[in-house]
Amino acid sequence: MTQHALLPESIHIERAEGAYLHTKDERAIIDGISSWWVNTHGHCHPKIVKAVQAQAAKLEQVIFAGFTHEPAEELARKLLRLAHDDLEFVFFSDSGSTAVEVALKMAIGYFEHIGAPRRKRIVALEGGYHGDTFGAMSAGGRGVFNKLYEPYLFNVTHLPFPHAGEESKTIEKLEILLRGGDVAALIVEPLVQGASGMRFYSSETLKEMRKLCSAHGALLIADEVMTGFGRTGAMFACEKAGIAPDLMCLSKGLTGGFLPMGATLASKEIYMAFYDDDRSKTFFHSSSFTGNALACAAAVANLEVWATEPTSTYIRSIEKAHDKAAGWFYARPDVEAVRVMGSIFAMDIRDNNGKGYLSEIGPKIYEFMLENDILLRPLGNTVYILPPYCIKPEDLETIYETLWRCLDHIRDERSQRAA
Ligand SMILES: Cc1ncc(COP(=O)(O)O)c(C=O)c1O
Repeated sequence: MTQHALLPESIHIERAEGAYLHTKDERAIIDGISSWWVNTHGHCHPKIVKAVQAQAAKLEQVIFAGFTHEPAEELARKLLRLAHDDLEFVFFSDSGSTAVEVALKMAIGYFEHIGAPRRKRIVALEGGYHGDTFGAMSAGGRGVFNKLYEPYLFNVTHLPFPHAGEESKTIEKLEILLRGGDVAALIVEPLVQGASGMRFYSSETLKEMRKLCSAHGALLIADEVMTGFGRTGAMFACEKAGIAPDLMCLSKGLTGGFLPMGATLASKEIYMAFYDDDRSKTFFHSSSFTGNALACAAAVANLEVWATEPTSTYIRSIEKAHDKAAGWFYARPDVEAVRVMGSIFAMDIRDNNGKGYLSEIGPKIYEFMLENDILLRPLGNTVYILPPYCIKPEDLETIYETLWRCLDHIRDERSQRAA
């Protein structure tokens, strides 16, 4: 995701604390995007540091086929307590993409094992992003990220994105597909599509999709890799919408952003489809680092931070500040749309060139903000703020004010060019 011909210099970070990234030459950069949405409680949270250090001195890693350990057991128990009661099993892996691959494989395997092999079709939303491995790319919306690889991607049926006021188009197409009886699963990013530009859709639509999948015997996979761990205001977006998926993919905030880890939560029915004295029905998926003890210890400590610190209050304060800022930005003629959900603030800047992700506005904002010691990484002409929950109110203010100046700068540059 970095074009080295245009961005030859990477910034050397020596240490990090809270919402700050400290460079070798002693700049303190505000991490306005939680280092790609992973860091929830701030960098180097002392409780997670301590847990990882203690675990490293005891057990760093052990094969997770036929073996287990306390941090993994504890993490599974804690995750299942947090998730909807319908989810009863956890499969550990090592990233968001693998959490998605695992969910897709489970959905297809499930129908094969229960004697419904016709159900092979995967349905997804246009514009979705589920990762960059081939299965995850196949489920994702087609565009600049995966255009080159299109001939190698498997067939996925994409539904129109449920824009406000146009939800019925999505729902109607889903229902027609489901009636065909060959759908294995619908995979969605619940409530917010992240990488396609922080696009929101309603809880009612998600509920309707859930209802239809259940009515027609298809599975619903919720990819909560971005939305999970408080991003939308609730612990999970599915919880916010009041639905239970059959499979739920987690990563990013799972370890508080400390270590790479993925988890796929599944219903008992799915687990039982693979549980058999016929060894060929084993769920065949392994990652060398499945259930890594350090990652599990970090994730357990992350959940302890959630349980003992006022994280939800921090998120509510961020949302309030975002709402206020949204009001200011909305009044700008160069801003097309502004939206806020939980800790997510996003706005679309008008761009007459319409190049989507390749819009020139993105790199301009990135550079301007970085010159002012703020890390934002726009998605084309959509600029978003997704801070660690511990961010100080004055740092959030600094981000809004700098962004305002940045938009002024781009506007002035445009009018100079036009003159
Ligand atoms: C919704 C969603 N799913 C999956 C992924 C892939 O996660 P990873 O980069 O850890 O493979 C991402 C990454 O941004 C994501 O936003």
